[in-house]
Amino acid sequence: MTLPISGRTRVVGVWGSPVSHSLSPRMHNAALAVLGVDWVYVPYTVQPDHAEAAVQAVRALDLVGVNVTVPLKERIAPYLDHVDEAAVRIGSINTIKNDGGVLTGYSTDGEGFVRDLQDLGWPTERLNVYLLGAGGSARALAYALAERECHVVIANRTAARAEDLTELVNRYFPGSSTVAPWGGAAGAKIDLMVNTTSLGMTPQVDDAPELPSGNFTGVRYVYDIIYNPEETRFLRGAREAGCSTSNGLGMLVRQGAAALGIWLERPIGPEALAAMELAVASRT
Ligand code: ATR
Repeated sequence: MTLPISGRTRVVGVWGSPVSHSLSPRMHNAALAVLGVDWVYVPYTVQPDHAEAAVQAVRALDLVGVNVTVPLKERIAPYLDHVDEAAVRIGSINTIKNDGGVLTGYSTDGEGFVRDLQDLGWPTERLNVYLLGAGGSARALAYALAERECHVVIANRTAARAEDLTELVNRYFPGSSTVAPWGGAAGAKIDLMVNTTSLGMTPQVDDAPELPSGNFTGVRYVYDIIYNPEETRFLRGAREAGCSTSNGLGMLVRQGAAALGIWLERPIGPEALAAMELAVASRT
């Protein structure tokens, strides 16, 4: 699938630990082949205590850039030259671009999420959103939604984290976020419900009762950022209640396409996007 490696091939990749399960190499190499770009996308296991040395290696080896994932997303910023404003605000980086040794960090998770909603034909602006979870993914999504004048209600098992996230979002978009108790019903007038927690990642575990997913009344759209092929209990419940539902595969592809767009300095067209979708859909 990848192009033959030449004397001019450049390297781009993903760092984190673990990365062996990552779909990003498949997805990006498929897009690079379609685009005819002479780069190869390689996974690297990088532990947090090597973060600074790994960043130096980007400069030394003139890598195009890298994606960063768990556990580096929140720890890499101090070693970069610049960080995009939204990434600073949400405190998370998933993409580094190398411009001749000058490294800039970005977060493309929010953009990937919003793009996916748009491609699904779902609305993205001025919505009442009920967001489950308050971790790194939730920060990116809550920020992106508040940026689009949505009101974001945040419910999280650890209430203090929900409060912290609400405070963060309200700092930049005053009045755009409130906290709801974990385990309560979503309440009336919710347009979009999003699960950002890791609950449901292992469908064989009977985790559904932990998600306050029982009441989808009046909810039109329900999104789960988990991208397992098996439908999560959360999504099944929503679908059975008549909601439009989606898992996070489209977001995964689109955050990747946004990163590729940063590295290539141009938007990724439909053909490459389709190749990325096919690559992740046909995973083994
Ligand atoms: P990510 O970067 O993927 O968002 P994270 O920052 O570790 O990962 O956040 C994981 C989210 O899943 C958190 O909202 C977490 O809730 P806590 O803040 O209470 O830890 C949520 N989560 C994980 N396991 C959970 C469980 N068993 N029940 C409820 N929420 C859970």
